[in-house]
Amino acid sequence: MSNLSAAKTAKEFSLYRIEKILDNSSTDFDLFITLESHFILYSGNGYKWNKDELNGLLQAGHDSLFIRNIDLTKAKMYETITALPSIAKDLAPPERIQKIEQIGAQFIKCLHEGELTESTVHKAESIAKSMVECVAEDVSCVKFLSGLAEHDYYTYFHSIRVSTYAVAIAINMGLTDRAQLENIALGGIFHDIGKKDIPIHILNKAGPLTPSEWKVMRSHPEEGHNQISESVLSLVPREIILHHHEKRNGSGYPHGLDRGSLMVEVQIATLADIFDALTSSRSYQSKRTKYEGLDFIKHKLLKDDVCPDAFKALVMALAG
Ligand SMILES: [Fe+2]
Ligand SMILES: [Fe+2]
Repeated sequence: MSNLSAAKTAKEFSLYRIEKILDNSSTDFDLFITLESHFILYSGNGYKWNKDELNGLLQAGHDSLFIRNIDLTKAKMYETITALPSIAKDLAPPERIQKIEQIGAQFIKCLHEGELTESTVHKAESIAKSMVECVAEDVSCVKFLSGLAEHDYYTYFHSIRVSTYAVAIAINMGLTDRAQLENIALGGIFHDIGKKDIPIHILNKAGPLTPSEWKVMRSHPEEGHNQISESVLSLVPREIILHHHEKRNGSGYPHGLDRGSLMVEVQIATLADIFDALTSSRSYQSKRTKYEGLDFIKHKLLKDDVCPDAFKALVMALAG
């Protein structure tokens, strides 16, 4: 490479400080070193780091590597995700589920605001795993979810709670397969991802939506499903994203599927979604208690909209 082309290439790179890389994390972007003005790949996408190597680089005087400028947004996402606190396993389920709710909501905020990277998907999987472990240990821990619904954070807290309620319903319906439960949890985490591009004034509108605003709002299941490919999430979470607004009598959207065509995992997530929406306060409704939420579903939605077995399982998780 001539000096001229090396100098031109250098404009495409920025320094990336080693201290930003955490032990036991994977960077989902390439990092380079330079040798005689040439950029040489040091660690490829997905490289797993450990502290010995990081210390070795620092001790050898390399306090920075180089990153392509086009990868800077991925790096920002990596830093945000790795900075989230981890979930302490030694806490009892009621306290642990509250931590998962807090950290999960912060994570889902990143998911809605940033780019979907491998770090993001790994973090979602690890939150889903911790949640399933916690709820399987004590299903009644869902009673300790906060119901918190800060204005701009509504969708993030809502999504992590939908995920948790869905796992509790599934366990009480007798589902025991961990992979299936983790997929349900992932479905809850991602179910409203299609809302990320809906303007906040429509999402939080206090009055009724106009027909055109309603059209935008109803597009979120398909928008979300289009954003997430099969290589990122498997069938169950993708079905939850696409069909969580369907109703068992076929009057839901986007496809008007009925009880015969909807996967049980989707029907579980739909009930969890409705229950959390009813029991959180939002700009256009004040919060119902958990009892009032269940009572509303029983009298207004059980006949046509939601799965009776899932409803019974939710009541069992919250009773006592
Ligand atoms: Fe939704
Ligand atoms: Fe939702």
